[in-house]
Formats: sequence, structure tokens, C-alpha cells
Amino acid sequence: ITAPDITSICQEAKTGFTAEGAIRTGKCCPPSLGKPIQTFAFPSKEKTRVRWPAHKGTDKQVKSYKKAIKAIRELPDDHPHSFVSQAKIHCAYCNGGYTQVDSGFPDIEIQIHNSWLFFPFHRWYLYFYERILRKYSGDDDFALPYWNWDNPDGMTIPQMFVAEKDDDPFFGNNPLYDQFRDARHLPPSVVDLFFSGAKLADNFANELDPETQKVCNLSMVYKDLIRNATDWKSFFGGVYTAGPMDEEPSVGSVESNTHTAVHVWVGDSNNTNREDMGNFYSAGYDPLFYAHHANVDRMWKLWKDLGIPGHSEPTADDWLNASYVFYDENENLVRVYNKDSVKIDKLKYDFEESRTPWKGSRP
Ligand code: C2O
Repeated sequence: ITAPDITSICQEAKTGFTAEGAIRTGKCCPPSLGKPIQTFAFPSKEKTRVRWPAHKGTDKQVKSYKKAIKAIRELPDDHPHSFVSQAKIHCAYCNGGYTQVDSGFPDIEIQIHNSWLFFPFHRWYLYFYERILRKYSGDDDFALPYWNWDNPDGMTIPQMFVAEKDDDPFFGNNPLYDQFRDARHLPPSVVDLFFSGAKLADNFANELDPETQKVCNLSMVYKDLIRNATDWKSFFGGVYTAGPMDEEPSVGSVESNTHTAVHVWVGDSNNTNREDMGNFYSAGYDPLFYAHHANVDRMWKLWKDLGIPGHSEPTADDWLNASYVFYDENENLVRVYNKDSVKIDKLKYDFEESRTPWKGSRP
């Protein structure tokens, strides 16, 4: 799968809604600045920045983060760094913005979910998002927070995302706030890593008490990283290549379970498509999306670090050479490949350590 020049070949998706004070548009194509696509270079001379658990940020980390999000919210929507442009990336890659035209299949859409593209695509998406935010934060140590939902201490929506108004007069309204979340799932509600559309329809009939929920959540993380993730296919998802496919690729463990549960659990069930978090096209409009995906990205690292035989990336050329195009922090278009996403030390970021009690939570 090769993403085309995203600025010249893009079709608008056909979804969206308008609510008071918010537009969620299915028009997802990125702005074109008329620049050629560059090849990616590793940030080899940079220091390593460390992503931090969102429930435990220092004042400095939280301030830098809010400052950066506020700044990109204030950019004109058609700026490639704007909050809206960044949100639209997800929509364009997931709601039919691009086709496989560069592989000779102009009528087949690119979908980076539900297959082995899920982890590398989102890794790159966050890589550039983090670098863009660093620029606007003015903080050379800037790194993204991760929503540490695999640790009982982090199993609620992190507090900094919640208050509508910020205590700090500089920020006014809290730039991390999003109005489209399920009101029943704000803190102290404990995330349900088994959450699904069926439970939603059931109107939460199976709600557990918080302590039991936490224990169950750990067993789900164990399943996603150990029991049901013994090889690349079960963890990353199945083969997805250009052209017509006989059957849909299989979905990886994390993607189908914990990852999707968090999306659906956060999204506002009053909205038709559970916007924002509950749908591809709108998920990027909630700042929580990127903290959630930072933890999903961390799951990839932790899965590797378990050191269990079989815990390694796909090696097929179709995986290694799949590519995407993003705007970088200098507003240049860059093409990036799965093969360059594998080693985060080369991408110069890491994750602050956090407890991993799920390792002992065999269901
Ligand atoms: Cu691209 Cu969490 O979905």
C-alpha cells in the first residue's frame, strides 16, 4: 500500500455533522502548499524525548502541552499544523480520502485500520503530531502524554482533559477539553476495556463496580499483549496489500479489543456516530485521541519488550514498504515507510516507565 500525494489526490469523505459550537466535517483533504514530497530522514542528532503518563504530568509538561494545543487550535483551519488539519489526517486515511492509485488501483480506497497497517500508521501520525506540538510549545523537552489505561492508576479519563474551563487564566477555556464525550464516563468512572457497541445498546447493563472493573481490565490487556498476541499476525493484524483482496484482513488483538473499547467508551452516545472518539472521521477532534494512541503505541513497545519468541514485526516487503505521507513540523510533505517505524530509539522518543500489573493478570 502506497499513499499517493495526499495534497493532490484526495477525495472528500461524505460524513459529518454540525452541532452548536462545533463542526465535524467529512471534508478531510489536507491543504496543498504545492511542495514536492521529501524522503524521510531520521532525527539522529536529537536527544530522546520521553512520553509521560497523562495522569502524572508535571506542571511543566502539562503547561507545555496545553500551550501547544491552544496554539494549533488558533491557527487557521487550512494551515497544515492546525488542530483541524491534524484531526482530518485520521479522517482522510480512514474514511476513503485516498485510493490505491499509486499501486494501479484508483478505484480501491486505502484503509489503514483493521489490518497490519494499524500500528505503523498511527506511530507515524503521532510522530509528526508530537514534533509539530513541540514547535508550538516552545519546550525543547516536549513529548506527548500517554493515557495509561493499562495501569489501575490511569484507568479514568486523565483529569487535565476534563475541566471545561482552565484554572490557569492564560489558557481560558481548557484546550484539552472536548464537548463530545459520554457524560457518564467522565471521572471517576473507570474505563471498561471490554466496552463494545453491544454494551452501549444494552445501556450499560453489565456495569461493574470500579475495583472489579480494574481487575477485568488487566486481564484484557494480558489477552491483547500475551495470550492472543503470540505472533505478528495476531498482534498487528493480517496482511493487507494493494489490489482486490479475497477476504478482509484479520484485525490485531489490541486494535480490536482495548483500543476500540476505549474509543467507543469515550465517544458521546448522544451523537449518531458516537462522535468524537467513537468514529474514525471525528476521533482526531478530541485531544484525548492522541493520548490514547500514544498508549496504543506504547503497547507495541511493551509487546516487543516482553521478549517472547514470535514478538516481532512482519518481515514481508508488502509490510516494510507500505508508506504514508504527512506534513512535518516545517510544513514539508514527507513520505514515511513502515520499515522505518520499527525502532523508536531511532525516532528519538521513548516512554516513561509505568507499572504493568497486567503481566501477572492471566485470565
Ligand atoms: Cu485510527 Cu484509534 O484509530
